[in-house]
Amino acid sequence: MEVLPSPEALEHYLVKSTRSRVLVPTMGALHEGHCSLLDLARASRPTFDLVATIFVNPTQFGPNEDFDAYPRPMEADLEKCRSHGVDAVFTPVAAEMYAADASINIHEASLSHRLCGASRPGHFDGVCTVVAKLFNLTQASAAVFGEKDFQQLAVIRRMVRDLNFPLEIIPGPTVRESDGLAMSSRNTYLTEQQRSEAPVLFRALTEVAAAISEGKLDSPGTAKSQVTEAISSCKEANIDYVDIVDASSLVSLDEFTDKNVRLLTATYFGKTRLIDNVGLPSSKAGS
Ligand code: PAJ
Repeated sequence: MEVLPSPEALEHYLVKSTRSRVLVPTMGALHEGHCSLLDLARASRPTFDLVATIFVNPTQFGPNEDFDAYPRPMEADLEKCRSHGVDAVFTPVAAEMYAADASINIHEASLSHRLCGASRPGHFDGVCTVVAKLFNLTQASAAVFGEKDFQQLAVIRRMVRDLNFPLEIIPGPTVRESDGLAMSSRNTYLTEQQRSEAPVLFRALTEVAAAISEGKLDSPGTAKSQVTEAISSCKEANIDYVDIVDASSLVSLDEFTDKNVRLLTATYFGKTRLIDNVGLPSSKAGS
């Protein structure tokens, strides 16, 4: 595996490379969720070079967010990349990614205002800008993103469509701990009490999704109240949002449709903000 610490090193790699590339962008602190995306990239594009990126992108963190505290276990991350068949891993530092007088970025003007974007102004512009740079730098033909960050996946798909990036987006399913908690680098911030409560998110989402598909809940409003009630029963949980949305426009639904529908939450446990989401697999609600 080649470790490419700068855009120049990546450029040299590209000059030598004869194969197309499939990209898995990450901020490191790799867990089984990230590794499943590496495996999915390898399995879905077996003849491509598998390129991972590890970059804690400063422009997607708000002023009161955890940029400095974000874990950076580089050696362990490189080992995981090696053992999951990565051909090259791009590990730039911020000064090499952003010119000091950089003055152009990508602004997503619709999907970003909802859900997580409402409480994280500028976050998705930071994500779009860095992902666009990674697409350009690696010249990948395909890229894998997790459904765990469902809004991010929708925003990236929109960016690829609207700016005609010549690559395919491959979605990867959410990998969970045995008690259902979605794996996240931020789970390590949880206290013992918060960790024991956090599986309520997936439990509440799946129970309500099942009730919807069995026709037991007549409206998104009732379904959202049930999720809210279940999560609020936990002492440490503080809900940011619970929503039921159209999966591509992310518009909140007033009634169930036969379109692709997603049930999502962001909930604080102490200062740690966790997100999770599920699809609604009934004929009534779509899948
Ligand atoms: P990061 O949070 O490191 O996540 C990298 C990729 O791993 C994302 O596509 C995310 O959706 C996916 N992922 C995270 N947890 C997962 C889980 N439990 N199961 C499956 N996939 C999971 O998302 C980012 O980094 C950044 O915003 C990035 C796209 C790299 C831009 O900086």
